[in-house]
Amino acid sequence: MTPYKLFISTILGASIAGCVTSAQAKDKEADKLVFDPAGAKPAVMTMPSGEEVRYTAYENIFYVTNIEDSVYQTLNIYVPETLNRGDSTPIFLRTYIGGYMATTAKSPSASDATGRALKEGYVVCIPGSRGANTTITRDGKTIYTGIAPNGLLDLKAAIRYLRYNDNVIPGSAERIIIDGTSAGGAMSALVGATGDRPEYDEYLLKMGAARTSDKVFASVCYCPITDLNHADMEYEWLYGCTNTGVRHLDAEQIKISNELSAECPSYINSLCLKDDSGNLITADNYKEYLKTFLIASAHKALEEGCEIPDTIGIVRYAEKPNFGAFPARGGNGDGRGAPSFGPAGMRPRFNNNTDFVSDIDLDKYLSYVASVTPLKTPPAFDQYGVLIDTPTPENNVFGNSEGTPANFTDFSLRHRLHDNSVTLDKDMVNRVFIMNPMNFIFENSASVAQYWFIRHGAKDRDTSFLVPINLATKLKNSGFDVNFFLPWNRPHSGDYNLDDLFGWIESISDR
Ligand code: DHB
Repeated sequence: MTPYKLFISTILGASIAGCVTSAQAKDKEADKLVFDPAGAKPAVMTMPSGEEVRYTAYENIFYVTNIEDSVYQTLNIYVPETLNRGDSTPIFLRTYIGGYMATTAKSPSASDATGRALKEGYVVCIPGSRGANTTITRDGKTIYTGIAPNGLLDLKAAIRYLRYNDNVIPGSAERIIIDGTSAGGAMSALVGATGDRPEYDEYLLKMGAARTSDKVFASVCYCPITDLNHADMEYEWLYGCTNTGVRHLDAEQIKISNELSAECPSYINSLCLKDDSGNLITADNYKEYLKTFLIASAHKALEEGCEIPDTIGIVRYAEKPNFGAFPARGGNGDGRGAPSFGPAGMRPRFNNNTDFVSDIDLDKYLSYVASVTPLKTPPAFDQYGVLIDTPTPENNVFGNSEGTPANFTDFSLRHRLHDNSVTLDKDMVNRVFIMNPMNFIFENSASVAQYWFIRHGAKDRDTSFLVPINLATKLKNSGFDVNFFLPWNRPHSGDYNLDDLFGWIESISDR
């Protein structure tokens, strides 16, 4: 919607309801979800360059009618003075969820992707959402309101709000790009994979979310901490090689690590993933597949002039590679080893630089990663009650409404209860299922966003490299458009290299 149209609709006041469908307008509850532009406030942001970006702020908007937590279930909308594509301007929706905790709706920051989005002329939406730490008091009792899947439901409700009001909110709700980091990256992946899935309907109905679509156009996932019910086995299968070295595990921990690791091959094989040439990826060749991404990352870093020490497992060519003799590494089949997804210019150009990478000693490289930031101890995610009692953020978010943490894998539940016959109850099985985007990604699935931008730092050890690689590969195998890379020397972080991100956003915005 153009600012002009917004002005007109402001004047028309009550007739705004007429902009949404008449069936919805008849619904009294739904009327509470009609966007009110009267709260508009002009604002200005100074970018690091000194440039001033003018915009209009609409804040503290409730996105559900059955509000459980008025502190968190609100969103803010920011509309730049100049929209970059008129009515079809994408809406950049940034979630600040971290550690599976709550976040309030925030205002844009000149130093992150929200400020950049405004500067580029995109509409920005920053919703709040409940999380593992949010409580309310009801009848004198403390109730945890943000346990899974409630944070995700809040994001879905916020998206529905934007779509319900698409005729009155500037920009296009058909062009929502969600961005998040870490647990927020997991939420971004979930929102991206589960648009309009019926599994969430009943919850959203109870919350009083708008009765419309929650599908998004694109998903930006920085280091998504996802696939939680397989993340422990993926972590141990990858990092087990460091157990007696840099990780210094004791005998009990090594036993748990080995048991978890042993469960991973059948999971990898069950995914039936394929590389760019159509070869099946199995537990037997997975590490070679992983190496193609790390090699592509190291290549790019060297090309850009980074120094990489010889001690961390990167094996270089002594001389300029000879195309004829260059080893194929799966990848895209052109013999350059770099998988075909990734930002333009990611592949090595083979100039006279002799510093290109021929191989990676993976065990050595993983030991290097573990030496930069100590690894999590096993189990890395479903830790509660296995070797120590301390719950992780994941145990808390899968906890109950009284605040008691919970296990979310049979493996950890059995270890905690010392009973090999117990299994997660039906409710937990369902919660775990609907919190894993991998369960919803299939060929031609209408619930999945068309465009994906996934980044995981090449020295990020918060989850196994398998997690983002499997996500990216499953999406790609299912026909979705995936831009995936493991940026060199990057620890666990997000919203970096914004030229890269906004170049990609620009490239998908007209499609
Ligand atoms: C986050 C990081 C983690 O290592 C984790 O297990 C969960 C969440 C985060 O930064 O959001």
